[in-house]
Amino acid sequence: MDFSIKAFSTKNAIAEQKTGCVVVGVYESGKLTPAAKLFDDKASLAAAFKSGDITGKAGSTLLLHRPASPAKRVLLVGLGSEGAVTDRQYVSVAQGVARALATLGASDALIALPLDAAQHRDTAWGIRTLVLALRESVYRTDALKSKKDDSSAGVKKLTLVIDTAQQAAAKQALAQGIAIANGMELTKTLGNLPPNICTPTYLAQTAKQLARDFKFGVEVLDRKQLEALKMGSFLCVTQGSEQPPKFIVLKHMGGKAKDAPVVLVGKGITFDTGGISLKPGAGMDEMKYDMCGAGSVLGTFRAIGEMQLKLNVIAVIPTCENMPSGRATRPGDIVTSMSGQTIEILNTDAEGRLILCDALTYVERFKPAAVVDIATLTGACVTALGHHNTGLFTRHDDAHDALADELLKAGKSANDTAWRMPVEDAYQEQLKSNFADIANIGGPPGGSITAACFLERFTRKYTWAHLDIAGTAWKSGAAKGATGRPVPLLTTFLMERAKR
Ligand code: BES
Ligand code: MN
Ligand code: ZN
Repeated sequence: MDFSIKAFSTKNAIAEQKTGCVVVGVYESGKLTPAAKLFDDKASLAAAFKSGDITGKAGSTLLLHRPASPAKRVLLVGLGSEGAVTDRQYVSVAQGVARALATLGASDALIALPLDAAQHRDTAWGIRTLVLALRESVYRTDALKSKKDDSSAGVKKLTLVIDTAQQAAAKQALAQGIAIANGMELTKTLGNLPPNICTPTYLAQTAKQLARDFKFGVEVLDRKQLEALKMGSFLCVTQGSEQPPKFIVLKHMGGKAKDAPVVLVGKGITFDTGGISLKPGAGMDEMKYDMCGAGSVLGTFRAIGEMQLKLNVIAVIPTCENMPSGRATRPGDIVTSMSGQTIEILNTDAEGRLILCDALTYVERFKPAAVVDIATLTGACVTALGHHNTGLFTRHDDAHDALADELLKAGKSANDTAWRMPVEDAYQEQLKSNFADIANIGGPPGGSITAACFLERFTRKYTWAHLDIAGTAWKSGAAKGATGRPVPLLTTFLMERAKR
């Protein structure tokens, strides 16, 4: 999909543009936008509204053919109520446009919608929202099908009509939207790849390729180096697998040399069988998505690399498989983490926290400004928040409240929301072990919270937040697949940090 922006010196020039389809808006009141009025020849659009063929409801669409005109089609799109369009409604508008354009016989379109129609949002936001919806509509999961899904239909070339005064801001917003879409696409592709292809080694190769493409620093540690670092917790998860573990470090040093970096830590379990605490068979294929934390960190790096973001950001990805075998970790085993804390493993299926805790100790060396870990950590988080909100966990002091607010705000602005959950000492009680410093599970009550509390014990040297993306990183059912979340949240968070 090819995007560009265009400013017109006079409004009427829009009407003279040759295009396969011009996209214009109508409000619920029946009021046409100024651009729409240009195409209301013989009051055809007004008549379409009056007849009820289009209601103006956000995201509704009506296609009109005008074979004799420079614009061969007019796509009339409902915008909702003028002056009160919510974020959600504008996203519906963008999705409505994407859906309609995806099936057209036309190959190019001119989008002449009000880009700042959402209340409290500007043109830049409108542009990013449109780009993400349009790119989402053309993503396919047929990479490994011998016969590809038909993708010949649909608009390939899109031009967004902008105000002359907005040119610089619009250009930047377009570049940002495309970068985020490219990042999400990488995250989706990695999440959708089968676990026999997307192995720890494959993730490491992907990171190295990104480093070449975007001039990141890169380092991949292997088992010997992890042993030397005394990562006993990470290593106990990988020990039942034939696939070698990798520990990936990527560095994007776009800020000032002395500025403390933001560190992103992504869970990279490329397949989670549960280990000796084996998962039930039904739906186990979905546990290939257990590397979506890692995938979203790589996707975010793709986005900030393309944007050349002026901020120091480091990615750390512990990645391995969780498999049963004669060499696998047993329930009851006690291991020593890199931090020195001993862990009694009561359930080998609570493996995410075991690989993350050593990564969270490792990142102390970067003296981070903030650390955010991203993980498909618990089924309990899906129970608590469903598939709409990512779980956000931090301690509850001023510094952490501020970090939580930044992440919540970034999520809202990127249509990739999170919801804050508690991290309190009362829950820590559930992690008591008779034989080690800490147990790796806290029982069924508040499962996503006790998982966060486990991680919390390894993050006391810096400001930290944890994102549980078990419910948001993918969709089950007919449209099964990775969503690319939370790349928009993370990228927006970093873009805002780069501004301050
Ligand atoms: N990867 C899973 C969490 C998960 C479950 C993600 C469902 C997405 C959908 C994680 O490693 C896991 O197995 N967690 C256990 C923890 C339990 C043993 C304390 C869980 O959620 O059941
Ligand atoms: Mn597990
Ligand atoms: Zn897991």
